[in-house]
Parts: sequence; structure tokens; C-alpha cells
Amino acid sequence: MYTHDAAGWHIRKYQTHDGQACMSIFMSCLRKFAWRGTPRPYVARLIRSIPNSRIWVAEEPYAGVIGFLTLQPGEAYVDHLFVHEDWRFCGVARGLLEVARDTACQPLTLDVDTQNFGARKAYESLGWKVMAAADVTGGRGQIRLVSP
Ligand SMILES: CC(C)(COP(=O)(O)OP(=O)(O)OC[C@H]1O[C@@H](n2cnc3c(N)ncnc32)[C@H](O)[C@@H]1OP(=O)(O)O)[C@@H](O)C(=O)NCCC(=O)NCCS
Repeated sequence: MYTHDAAGWHIRKYQTHDGQACMSIFMSCLRKFAWRGTPRPYVARLIRSIPNSRIWVAEEPYAGVIGFLTLQPGEAYVDHLFVHEDWRFCGVARGLLEVARDTACQPLTLDVDTQNFGARKAYESLGWKVMAAADVTGGRGQIRLVSP
């Protein structure tokens, strides 16, 4: 589907047995999102979304699953994009987004937390543009972005 020969990982469709690895990556990322508070509602949302979403994982032969992306069914909206901390800056997010973009056959959208400066920089590097700033109540806003 998508292979990064130099870095040794590839992207494939999610399988049920990937659930635990994805959740582990998700939880360790959420721990760094101090502004979000308790992870419980976000975990519940991920669990709810899994049966109906299109999901891809990046897998490395020794490390296992190192990142995942969920795409809302029938839409080009990226619900989750999370890459293991040890595998950042290796093109994993770029690859997952490319696969999702090819599948959706239209530009993707997503919402990024205003305080998530790392992700905002990554999307900027990937050519994403701001569609709308939304929900700035209490300083915990999100920005709607659209892909090339
Ligand atoms: C944001 C995230 C998904 C990026 O994943 P990644 O696999 O490291 O990204 P890539 O390696 O594909 O990088 C794509 C581009 O973004 C740049 N980039 C990635 N992270 C960056 C950062 N923190 N700061 C600046 N640039 C960054 C890369 O340099 C690359 O640009 P280049 O090709 O011009 O060099 C990852 O940092 C992550 O999982 N963060 C925690 C969860 C999160 O915030 N998810 C997004 C929720 S909306």
C-alpha cells in the first residue's frame, strides 16, 4: 500500500488486533496534551469511532504499530492522527495522510488544537491551509485545516 523503504515501515489497513497498540500510542500522546485534561472522553470517542472508520496503521517489523490515522466514514475528515514519539519526523504522518487522501479522492480536513504547536507546524509543512478558527471559548480552541 505504502512503503518507506529507507525507514523500514509500511502502511496497511487496521486489523482488530492493532487496537491495543493504537490505544497505547494514543494514550501516551494524550499525556502530553496538558490542556485537554482527563483523557477519558477522547478515549471513549476513539473506541466509538473504530468500528465505523476507515483506519490505517504504520507498522515497522521490530517496533510493531508506530502510528495510525482514522478517517470518518463517507467523509474526508481525519478524526485521529497519532505517531509514536520514537518515530516522529520519519514521514509516518505524511504517509498516512497520503494514503487517506488517495482513498478519499478529495482534500482532507481536520481540527487541530490551537495549543498543539508541533502538529500545527507539521500540517503547515505538509501544505495544509487554515479553513476556519473555531470554538475559542476558554482558550481551548481548535482550528479547521484543509489538505492540498
Ligand atoms: C503531528 C504528528 C502526527 C506528526 O507526525 P510525524 O510522523 O512526525 O510527521 P512527518 O514526519 O510526516 O512530518 C511531516 C512534516 O512535518 C514536519 N514536522 C513534523 N512534526 C513537526 C514539529 N513538531 N515541528 C515542526 N515540524 C514538524 C516534518 O519536518 C515534515 O516536514 P518536512 O517534510 O518539510 O521536513 C506527530 O508529531 C504526533 O503524533 N503528534 C502527537 C499527536 C498529534 O498532535 N496529532 C495530531 C492531532 S490533530
